[in-house]
Amino acid sequence: MKLRSLSANSPGRRANWKALGLSPEDMEKPKIAVVNSSSELAICYAHLDGIAQIVKEEIRKAGGVPFEVRTAAPSDFITGANKAGSYILAGRDIIANDIEVQVEAAMLDGMICLTSCDKTPPGHLMAAARLNIPTILVIGGYQQAGEIDGEPVDVEDVWSGAVGERFGGKPKFPVADMAENAIRGPGVCAGMATANTMHCVVEALGMTLPGHAPVRGNSPKMQANARACAHRIVEMVGEDLKPRQIMTEGAFRNAIATVLAVSGSINAIKHLQAVAVEAETDIDIFTLWEEMSDVPILSAVRPTGEVRIEAFEDAGGARAVLKRLETRIDGDVLTCTGRTMAENLKDYVIPGPDVIHAIDDPVSEGPAIAILRGSFAETAVVRLGIRDGSRPEEFSGPARVFEDSMECLQAIEDGKVKEGDVVIARNQGLKGGPAMGGGASMVLFALDAAGLAKTTAFVTDGQLSGLCLKGLTVAEVHPEAATGGPIGKVRDGDRITISVENRSLDIDVPAEELARREGPGLRIPAHGYLDTFRHDVRDMSTGGVLLPERS
Ligand code: FES
Repeated sequence: MKLRSLSANSPGRRANWKALGLSPEDMEKPKIAVVNSSSELAICYAHLDGIAQIVKEEIRKAGGVPFEVRTAAPSDFITGANKAGSYILAGRDIIANDIEVQVEAAMLDGMICLTSCDKTPPGHLMAAARLNIPTILVIGGYQQAGEIDGEPVDVEDVWSGAVGERFGGKPKFPVADMAENAIRGPGVCAGMATANTMHCVVEALGMTLPGHAPVRGNSPKMQANARACAHRIVEMVGEDLKPRQIMTEGAFRNAIATVLAVSGSINAIKHLQAVAVEAETDIDIFTLWEEMSDVPILSAVRPTGEVRIEAFEDAGGARAVLKRLETRIDGDVLTCTGRTMAENLKDYVIPGPDVIHAIDDPVSEGPAIAILRGSFAETAVVRLGIRDGSRPEEFSGPARVFEDSMECLQAIEDGKVKEGDVVIARNQGLKGGPAMGGGASMVLFALDAAGLAKTTAFVTDGQLSGLCLKGLTVAEVHPEAATGGPIGKVRDGDRITISVENRSLDIDVPAEELARREGPGLRIPAHGYLDTFRHDVRDMSTGGVLLPERS
């Protein structure tokens, strides 16, 4: 076995590691980073320090030497949007950089990443793609949701209830009671929001062991999964099995198929694109997405339907989805097991037929998420969910333009948004937000609570929480307002037309006229890291990576 860390055994390192308790024999063993993206600020991470101890112990048993390293650990509900932008998306790239400056700099032989809240899975996958050393991810799991009077209550209820109350909606229970009861254990937000979607993506890419996503946080099963991953990473170092052998185009297709089949979060698109860029591929996730758009919806976990994430796990989770998609995915891709996806799935029997449907008997036709293009956007994303006609998919109306989400929320509260309007909240993009901050998701809940979700359309260059699925909402409009996109030049009254059937998003203003109009530039002030981020971030066609252009 050729170990990078042996060449890192300089006298200075050996002196440090000896002082840390390593024996002469340890110096010759594989050195494995245990990447613990964790913080005491959020429940998403509350169990990970304990999991790190389990993982380290198992790595030692398997013949490796673990080194725990920490990274930034953003959490949507704690370090999310504030007045100056969003630290959560900006945090994704810090995680990748944190890993580089510790794991790559120390020339460790492999890494095992404890992955949890929304931005940690993509941050870990990006680092894996960048460093290209043997890597496996441990799925951190979801939080146990609560109940009131026998009825399930989760964090989505708290959030949508709080926003809705301000705009005339009536939550199913008092918000304070729901907040008291919604979270009963460590882990990520319940439901098929961004974190659970990304956990399924990790498994579909082949970057964790089969049957690991989703899982209840800190459950005996999750702890057993962590042990299995710890053993496997030591083997992977011996096999020199690297992420760029695993995360190939076929693996990205499998991940896309999985997101579509579970009707997951739109955020998966930009995260997958960022991973593809970090792997130095020319894979265009937006194009692959369009090519996979015949994949139907096979399960309806909240917010798509009423299925709880626990039931989805019991029904086999991502592994069962991949099994159902067996004829639609690329079975030849290599996974972290050292076997192909097809080999992993060959003998698997889905535990129950009800929750995860067969591909010829889907919950709904797809796609659950579509890419729109046209004179208003090079790309934009619309989450459709179940295609049962309950939400509009074709819409044409006059633009009602707001310079940010807060201005838009105020207008809704003041009754200034009318049926038929195409509500536009701009300056919420990668540079404008910056880092897609500003609370576009709240607009959606406000429109819903005000009874306008189905009689208006909402268009933004911002991002949406994975919990958002209401009305006709087009997000992540690229190019964004701050970089001269049409969304920065649209004026009140300009006609905007959205057609899901045609996959189009258009403005009825001649291109020459748009070219004459001024865009807002960087309108929202920012300082510190967010200011650095907005200047260095690349556009949405790269998934918003903080990497220089490659010639
Ligand atoms: Fe961490 Fe929702 S806030 S997963």
